[in-house]
Amino acid sequence: MAHNLTVEYSMLLALATKAQKNAHAPYSNFHVGAAILDENAQHHGGCNVENAAYPLGQCAEAGAISAMIASGGKQIKQILIASPNNDFCPPCGGCRQKIAEFANAQTEVHLATQDGQIKTVKFETLLPLAFGFDKISED
Ligand code: THU
Repeated sequence: MAHNLTVEYSMLLALATKAQKNAHAPYSNFHVGAAILDENAQHHGGCNVENAAYPLGQCAEAGAISAMIASGGKQIKQILIASPNNDFCPPCGGCRQKIAEFANAQTEVHLATQDGQIKTVKFETLLPLAFGFDKISED
């Protein structure tokens, strides 16, 4: 199945890179792309969208999640985050919580750099002891 994984990763990287080129990041000049594979084998891309009112800016991951939800997807099977430089760009704390809403412990998170490095981690390593729906539902 290594072949399928490679194909999947390539598609996510291509989509994230495409979205990254459209990032609106005139304040940080830090252009990020993200792409999600959902449970229906659909792909969804996103980029960061900043705002002159700085706190209103949105991360690339949030954009990809919105695209997934709008398309009817409900589960993040894999998510890739494309960094604008040669360091990995791990999702911020707020995005980890946003991802948690639609992911599980085994969800694969791929981090990609401009020079072709890739690191893949399970979501549980990024957000242990996650707060989620199970914590607010009755027994
Ligand atoms: N950013 C993302 O889009 N995703 C991340 O994982 C980290 C940070 C954005 C937010 C802001 O527009 C810019 O990168 C600098 O923080």
